[in-house]
Amino acid sequence: MAGKGTDDPSESPAAPVPFPAKRELDACRRCALWEHATQGVPGVGPRPAAILLIGEQPGDEEDLTGRPFVGPAGRLLRELLNEAGIDAATAYITNAVKHFSWEPRGKRRLHKTPAQREFDACNAWLEKEIGAVRPKVIVALGAKALVAVLRRRLTIAEGRQSKLERDGTRVIATFHPSAVLRAPDAERRAELRQIVRDDLGVAAKLAGKTK
Ligand code: URA
Repeated sequence: MAGKGTDDPSESPAAPVPFPAKRELDACRRCALWEHATQGVPGVGPRPAAILLIGEQPGDEEDLTGRPFVGPAGRLLRELLNEAGIDAATAYITNAVKHFSWEPRGKRRLHKTPAQREFDACNAWLEKEIGAVRPKVIVALGAKALVAVLRRRLTIAEGRQSKLERDGTRVIATFHPSAVLRAPDAERRAELRQIVRDDLGVAAKLAGKTK
């Protein structure tokens, strides 16, 4: 059974437990996003975990299910994690903002990038998660996640060229899987896909995970 037989929690994850507690997130009034969201979407995964991945905010499917990265971007993320030699179940996966920010377009709810004040308001949750997960490496998926983790402005291109740390923990900057899905053509899509897979491979090595 998962979680038994070894002392290394990153090798034998417990069943994913939502964190922070759903009822705490659902009661959060630090910003107004809760008003139009179905629910708060907590992080999921073992605590501690060697790798902590951070996205921007829940999308439509995540808002409805209450679980992070279960839509198209999440499916691609899991595929890339697998290719990089990382068992997704051993990683802790969360978002910088915990409620879905959206705007109506006909009958659809379209992703609306949260305002900086909403990222700031949600930062206390992220800090709590990082403190509980105590990762060896943090992977920021996209510029918004990177800024939320480092608390300073940096593009993914800049971040990928630097050795980033926060409080002694290595931070890997890479593109959000949605950027791969939205690439303008097949060539760019393949290029971005390869970059994200390689960056996840670097994270795997830093976390002591090998293929
Ligand atoms: N994009 C994100 O950043 N997070 C999710 O949970 C889903 C899509």
